[in-house]
Amino acid sequence: MKFTIATIPGDGIGPEVIQETIKVLETMAAIGGHTFSYPLLLAGGAALDATGHPLPEETLQTAQEADAVLLGAVGGPKWDHLEGEYRPERALLGLRKSLGLFANLRPAVLFQPLKDACPLHPATAAKGIDIMVVRELTGGLYFGKQERLQDETGGWYAYDTMQYHESEIRRIARVALELAKGRSGKVTSVDKANILESSRLWRKTVMEEAAAYPTISLDHMYVDNASMQLVKSPGQFDVILTENMFGDILSDEAGMITGSIGMLPSASLREDQGGMYEPVHGSAPDIAGQNKANPLATILSAAMMLRISFGLEAEAMLMESAVEHVLNQGLRTGDIYSDGCQLTGTREMGAAVVAAVKQLE
Ligand code: NAI
Ligand code: MG
Repeated sequence: MKFTIATIPGDGIGPEVIQETIKVLETMAAIGGHTFSYPLLLAGGAALDATGHPLPEETLQTAQEADAVLLGAVGGPKWDHLEGEYRPERALLGLRKSLGLFANLRPAVLFQPLKDACPLHPATAAKGIDIMVVRELTGGLYFGKQERLQDETGGWYAYDTMQYHESEIRRIARVALELAKGRSGKVTSVDKANILESSRLWRKTVMEEAAAYPTISLDHMYVDNASMQLVKSPGQFDVILTENMFGDILSDEAGMITGSIGMLPSASLREDQGGMYEPVHGSAPDIAGQNKANPLATILSAAMMLRISFGLEAEAMLMESAVEHVLNQGLRTGDIYSDGCQLTGTREMGAAVVAAVKQLE
């Protein structure tokens, strides 16, 4: 099969981790008889330097036409003085908006060789963590009406509104329910239905959608309890489905209980299975250009791309197994290093994953 991957290396460690990921993808293409093409596009600081704008029209257009977008990271101190539409991060917002990305997927997986990096109780870590947070990305508190006003005494007040349309809830619920089919089959919908009207509509609508998925077990949890349960017994969760702000907070919490930021992938999806895949981390200017960055978050993001946007489940699993394999071999970049392991660089880690893919195939 043929796929076009709009590839945006970006700034800082972005180009380094993307380079290793392409090597792994090329190995997968050779094994599966697929053809991947990687039109290289500018965004963020790199685009500002070259064109004066963080999101050139050509990048937008190629990203829209591609089967998926693979992004490193954007931003860095060189562009910190810029404001408004010239900030490098505006490229991310522009891409999300114009691609219509409404579902943000953040897996939190504790690889057993890294269980010492888990900040939770060792007995909890030993049980394993494998959670998929599905966050609604275009509605809720972050996009509702907001205003700052003065009351009759002259004092300021402000408000934000949390608003959801049934149709928005249905489409994100379907993403979570579909994902659960390929996992252990459990969805926990997180809301605050004891207080918020939008959460009561959320809960009712999610239940209606779930009726079409008799093999999936659905339960509901209030967001405050969910944040406690994530650190108390994360093993109870499979897919967490939640609205924008709750998901922002819970996905960061879920990510951190697995250890390093250098291990966390993400996907943002639109309705037609297309999407944008990127590591959770930023451009890490402190280690850029030093062959120190962990490429595994980006490699795992590319595995999600194969699974979700390209339907290549076997290939995705092979990539993920290869990552686990190199960790089992004791290879570690600095961010995940612990005593007794072998400290390695970005390129060496990429090469080790390529070798593991070939070995495990
Ligand atoms: P960051 O994620 O870039 O770095 C935080 C810390 O984690 C640093 O010490 C860094 O060295 C380390 N780190 C991050 N990724 C790593 C990796 N793959 N391997 C090893 N160590 C890694 O966050 P920070 O420092 O807040 O932001 C730096 C720049 O990145 C800023 O310009 C920020 O705006 C941008 N940024 C971009 C994002 C994106 O493109 N999606 C997301 C977050 C930040
Ligand atoms: Mg956040």
